[in-house]
Amino acid sequence: MSLEDRLNRLEQMRTEAKLGGGQKRIDTQHKKGKLTARERIELLVDPNSFEEFDMFVTHRSTDFGLAEQKFLGDGVVTGCATINGRKVFLFSQDFTVFGGSLSEAHAEKICKIMDMAMKVGAPVIGLNDSGGARIQEGVVSLGGYADIFLRNTLASGVVPQISVILGPCAGGAVYSPAITDFVFMTKGTSYMFVTGPNVVKTVTHEEVSSENLGGAMVHASKSGVCHFPCENEADAIARLKRLMEYLPQNNLEDPPFIESNDPPNREEEILNTIVPENPNQPYDIKDVISNVADQGSFFEVHEEFAQNIVVGFARLGGRSIGIIANQPAVMAGVLDINSSAKGARFIRFCDAFNIPILTFEDVPGFLPGTDQEHNGIIKHGAMLLYAYCEATVPKVTVITRKAYGGAYDVMNSKHVRGDMNYAWPTAEIAVMGPKGAVEIIFRKEIADSTDAEAKVQKMTDDYRDKFANPFIAAARGYVDDVIEPKSTRPRLIRAFEMLETKKDSNPPKKHGNIPL
Ligand code: HXC
Repeated sequence: MSLEDRLNRLEQMRTEAKLGGGQKRIDTQHKKGKLTARERIELLVDPNSFEEFDMFVTHRSTDFGLAEQKFLGDGVVTGCATINGRKVFLFSQDFTVFGGSLSEAHAEKICKIMDMAMKVGAPVIGLNDSGGARIQEGVVSLGGYADIFLRNTLASGVVPQISVILGPCAGGAVYSPAITDFVFMTKGTSYMFVTGPNVVKTVTHEEVSSENLGGAMVHASKSGVCHFPCENEADAIARLKRLMEYLPQNNLEDPPFIESNDPPNREEEILNTIVPENPNQPYDIKDVISNVADQGSFFEVHEEFAQNIVVGFARLGGRSIGIIANQPAVMAGVLDINSSAKGARFIRFCDAFNIPILTFEDVPGFLPGTDQEHNGIIKHGAMLLYAYCEATVPKVTVITRKAYGGAYDVMNSKHVRGDMNYAWPTAEIAVMGPKGAVEIIFRKEIADSTDAEAKVQKMTDDYRDKFANPFIAAARGYVDDVIEPKSTRPRLIRAFEMLETKKDSNPPKKHGNIPL
């Protein structure tokens, strides 16, 4: 056979591979409002940067007529590319081939790029669209999933791993994304569930739609599995690219510095008026964040979940930072089970990838009640505490208002290795809020009083004057300075600059035992 013939054959095979499960199934995919595996890659990566691996891999199964049904690539497109010039490894499941289901060969392709990403030190992005284990293959398919789960776990904290869910993800297909760092989902076209609505109906007699069982908004707002519910595939990919701008390539690198046009000395008068005089009146902590961070740089993570805490990435003077902020506008910013878990997970990601942490604190304490106690507020609060204690990246806190009780300790206090702790003059740092404190310590006097209401009011005012301020903490060095709110941005930029070369470590151990 001449070289020309061989090249023609190669070209033919490439054309065949690019068609996946065939034009008819591609049309069906498009009709559902979904792109194909290759179209998604094209949208994601820099033009002409995609280096594909294993285009000619096929499955090795013979049962259930599979010997006659082979598709080049076996339902997943894998390789390496660049996004805004930075290297990534990726896989994109092809729903047109056996519903993107995972065979032994399909799993091997994913494992190959994951192994390569670990050696090279680059992020792994998975574009998921899969019916789970390839049913005809049985246990070898299950083995393939486990091979991926192991690699996800070993890569955790070494290279960023990001999952984009763009179709049904059932069974094993949900567990790999769940181990990765961030999960994007598209509204209306993507689902994640251990078992679909039919199985649910058989087992529990519940009637539920796919959307209500495991759609994007359900996982974004209720389970917390999804960090970014997206309008459509283009939106998901655009937001994924934005996320990547804040992340380093691996745990040995620093996140990229992006020069900012926003003056580092910018002071904002509006910050002086943001905290209302009435301590029970809410305000939106995102107004503080947006006035402090480099203009337009705040990129919120987990926006729909546990909105009483806000987490996300931003830039300060061009440096990537992770922000954790109590949100007084939602449930007074109280710490509950979900907000504790949300904060803890984000802190651990930042710490693993050398992203300094900025905490804005305005928290009345932990949420009381049987629901919270029975479901483990102790364990979850401890998780947040553990995450802060363990983190060794630069850690800076600004107490804008309330820092009460255990929540004072937890939210990156000096005692848990906060590096620079600032308070606004509006800060109230005490064991508990004035009214609650008075009702406990003066219970007897109040009971004996003929004018209890006036007495409580007077003692509450006295308590507030004495304790509800930042100066007792400042006198002990528990806050490093009390700053005028408008100067927060320049002060924070200076603090993170000072801390740039910070080194800290934890005792050698196999790993800690975070209360899960
Ligand atoms: C083999 C599969 C498949 C699978 C879908 N297909 N899922 N082939 N193994 N798991 C094939 C279909 O036969 C069909 O082939 C094509 O993919 C498209 O599927 P449709 O059903 O026509 O598409 P749709 O109506 O969009 O429904 C998609 C779906 C549904 C919701 C994913 O197919 C489905 O429920 N599949 C089974 C899901 C499942 O139970 N997976 C196993 C989970 S157990 P043709 O030739 O017609 O195009 C598991 C264990 C791992 O994963 C546990 C590890 C912890």
